[in-house]
Amino acid sequence: MSSPSLFDPIRLGAIHAPNRILMAPLTRGRGTQQHVPTPMMIDYYAQRASAGLIITEATGISQEGLGWPFAPGIWTDEMVEAWKPVTDAVHGKGGRIMIQLWHMGRIVHPDFLNGAPPVSASATTAPDMAHTYEGKKPYAEARPLEVSEIPRLLEDYAHATRNAMRAGFDGVQIHAANGYLIDEFLRDSSNLRTDEYGGSPENRVRLLREVTQVVVGEAGADRTAVRLSPNGETQGVIDSNPASVFGVAAQALDALGIAFLELREPGPGGTFGATDQPRQSPLIRQHFKGPLVLNSDYDKARAQADLDSGLADAIAFGRPFIANPDLPERLSLDAPLADSPMATWYSQGPEGYIDYPALAKTDA
Ligand SMILES: Cc1cc2nc3c(=O)[nH]c(=O)nc-3n(C[C@H](O)[C@H](O)[C@H](O)COP(=O)(O)O)c2cc1C
Repeated sequence: MSSPSLFDPIRLGAIHAPNRILMAPLTRGRGTQQHVPTPMMIDYYAQRASAGLIITEATGISQEGLGWPFAPGIWTDEMVEAWKPVTDAVHGKGGRIMIQLWHMGRIVHPDFLNGAPPVSASATTAPDMAHTYEGKKPYAEARPLEVSEIPRLLEDYAHATRNAMRAGFDGVQIHAANGYLIDEFLRDSSNLRTDEYGGSPENRVRLLREVTQVVVGEAGADRTAVRLSPNGETQGVIDSNPASVFGVAAQALDALGIAFLELREPGPGGTFGATDQPRQSPLIRQHFKGPLVLNSDYDKARAQADLDSGLADAIAFGRPFIANPDLPERLSLDAPLADSPMATWYSQGPEGYIDYPALAKTDA
């Protein structure tokens, strides 16, 4: 049997993706200060509708979980109403769009919480500086979540998922990567707990499993996905034995029958979070039988090679989608790719956001 091409369709649970070039989640900071999506975001996502599947920028499930200036949320009716024209526009262009649900854990600065500390697995402090509306500030020490608070946290995920489905999304991706709340529970540099949410890999996976269960309960397993970052350090979060905890996580997600699992795995030569820790995808592939989507630093050749070897079923591209809204077409034509300057990744205006043109159409 020949291996699939990047341009072959794939079924991701209930979602039929016409190609295997997914748009990775990209925070762009174009919401309001109250975290409501803005009309600019309608154009931005509609321009990228030819992706096999768009995964939105990380979107806050609650005020407690959102500490990124101008990032969108999905916990109020106003936010739901503002997302509706985004999903409508993507569907109108024949596309598919899943929302990434975010709780930032200890990465939320107290400025976003009326001065209260952020929550995490344990009383730890993220390294470096937080983004706030008043510029960069040192992170604050987190308050460990009480076991008695977990049901409330799970209800926040359930509520956000119901809102996402009301807003017309095709599904929900749980952000369990990159040093945010769920990742803070998964990995042992940030999870120092001695209760049933800490210690053994099974215990550290418990929150991920419970969150996924409630999201599945609202959206259906075939419209639920998860993103993990199993190798390397992100925002001070790292594990001393990634194979053990992520093997257990992959088994738990497999048992829940989710639509797909996405792994962000920078390599040693990676340009975004480079790491010497080995990739966990070969191991995770053995435990998770559903579609596996891989990300980080892919170009067309490497992407096709990972499909050919059977390591991945689809590839998520992040930065290339910023300046190349029609990335699948450009890859199919081997057309040159445009670059995006970092200065406009998170800036608020339309510049560097909705002003990247598609390839000029030439007459056949
Ligand atoms: C501007 C920017 C914003 C990002 N925002 C998110 C995000 O909201 N959620 C997430 O899981 N990853 C986020 N990432 C990570 C990307 O999804 C992706 O993992 C990373 O860019 C590596 O993939 P690439 O080499 O294809 O760009 C972001 C990356 C960039 C450059």
